[in-house]
Formats: sequence, structure tokens, C-alpha cells
Amino acid sequence: MSRRVLILLGPPGAGKGTQASRLCAELGLPHVSTGDLFREHRAKGTELGRRAQEYMDSGRLVPDDLVLDMLFDRVAKPDCARGFLLDGFPRTLPQAEALEKRLGGGTAVRVLDLRVADKALVDRLTGRRTCRQCSHIHHVRTSPPKAAGRCDRCGGELYTRTDDEAATVEKRLAVYRDQTQPLQGYYQKKGLLQEVDGDRNPDEVFRSLRQAAAGMEAA
Ligand code: AP5
Ligand code: MG
Repeated sequence: MSRRVLILLGPPGAGKGTQASRLCAELGLPHVSTGDLFREHRAKGTELGRRAQEYMDSGRLVPDDLVLDMLFDRVAKPDCARGFLLDGFPRTLPQAEALEKRLGGGTAVRVLDLRVADKALVDRLTGRRTCRQCSHIHHVRTSPPKAAGRCDRCGGELYTRTDDEAATVEKRLAVYRDQTQPLQGYYQKKGLLQEVDGDRNPDEVFRSLRQAAAGMEAA
């Protein structure tokens, strides 16, 4: 079987991380999230983490060269040899072009574009709580943890991401519209884009994504 690369596109709060965990478990693909990779670098106090911090905390994108080096290092690891799922990458046209060049031929690519209305996104992000240990995602109202402040999956400490403050969320949504949304047209022209309504309960969204990914195997 050729290599499969699944790209989850969508605005901040669309549910990329939530759905990526489930899809990766189902499909046996590694979950590659550039946001999670940057947060790991920050937690370890690396130079890359330090350089990314000011961009992330202000809701701006980290410069392409920093993102690309980190991402290509990650997908060169043996667990990605048969494919991987990208969450939060690409986010700019130069990133998409660099990915395409890197993958070359012989890779089946599908882009699943999660659509969610802006007002729902703000509520999802300001109520999100993330596990410091395993990055598992909760929401104070829609998916609260069983024990207050503790991750259901690993028992780690839950925290509020610094970029989930209301003003930073608005900035991230504006950056998304300006720099990332043009990727819809880019992938549509290539016949790779599939829209998925992300404004439904997580199980329904998952079923649609799974169906779209299964279509890819048959393609
Ligand atoms: P990143 O970590 O990728 O953040 P993001 O794209 O802004 O997306 P989020 O993680 O905020 O949202 P999500 O879609 O994963 O939603 P989630 O599943 O958590 O990036 C952070 C920063 O890193 C960027 O701003 C940038 O600075 C930098 N960066 C990262 N990648 C980069 C790149 N390629 N280039 C440049 N810079 C980059 O869900 C959100 C909440 O909603 C949760 O509480 C969840 O429980 C809830 N929820 C999920 N689904 C549903 C549902 N169906 N119904 C109700 N609630 C739901
Ligand atoms: Mg995420």
C-alpha cells in the first residue's frame, strides 16, 4: 500500500485535535500536530520553543522556516513511513507547497476541512482545558473531566492554554481567515478537499471523517 497522508484543515477550535486522536487510533496512523510539537519544545525549554513562544502567545503564526524544519524532522521518523495525520499543518500556502514537494509522487493525500461557525469556536476555545502531560482535550461544559482539574485519559493536570484567552482567540481567527483559509481553494483545485460539518456532536463528526478517510483507501 502506498503512503497515506491525511490533512485536517479547519479554524482554531474546529475540533482538529479532538478528532485527530480518535482517527489516528482507528486508522493506526501517527498524529502529527505542529501546535503540540511546539508546546513540547516549550515545555522542554528548547531554543525552538523559546522562539515560537512569542508568536503563539500573541495568536500569530510561527514563521514558515521554523515550522518546516520541525515538521520534516518529525515525519522523517520511522513511524511515519506508511503515512501520518497532519493536524494544524499546513497553515500557509508556502507550507502547503513545501509539503507537496517533500511528499513527491506515490503518496495518497486527502484534506478533510472541518467547518464550524465563528461563534461556536470562541465558546469552544475559551472553555477548553488541555492535559499538560498527554495533550488530551476537555471542555468545561461539553466534555468535563470526571475528576476536577485532572485528565480522564492519564490523570495529568489540566490547564488553560495561554492562547485561549478571548482577545487572543479573536486574533487567531483573523489570522486563520487571512493566511490559512486560502488553502481551501488550493486543495479544492487539486481535487483533494472534502468538507465536513464540524458543528455537530463529536461522535457524528467522527463518523463523517472516518467515512471520508475510508473513501481514500478505495481511491
Ligand atoms: P494549534 O495548537 O494547532 O492551535 P489551533 O489550530 O489554533 O487549533 P486548536 O488546537 O486551538 O483547535 P482544534 O481544532 O485542535 O480544536 P480542539 O479539538 O482542541 O496551534 C497553536 C499555535 O501554534 C498557532 O496559533 C501558531 O502560533 C502555532 N502553530 C501551530 N502550527 C503552526 C503552523 N503550521 N504554522 C505556523 N504556526 C503554527 O477543540 C477545541 C475545544 O472544542 C475543546 O475544548 C473540545 O473539547 C471542544 N470540541 C471539539 N469538538 C467539539 C464538538 N464537535 N462539539 C463541541 N465541542 C467540541
Ligand atoms: Mg489543536
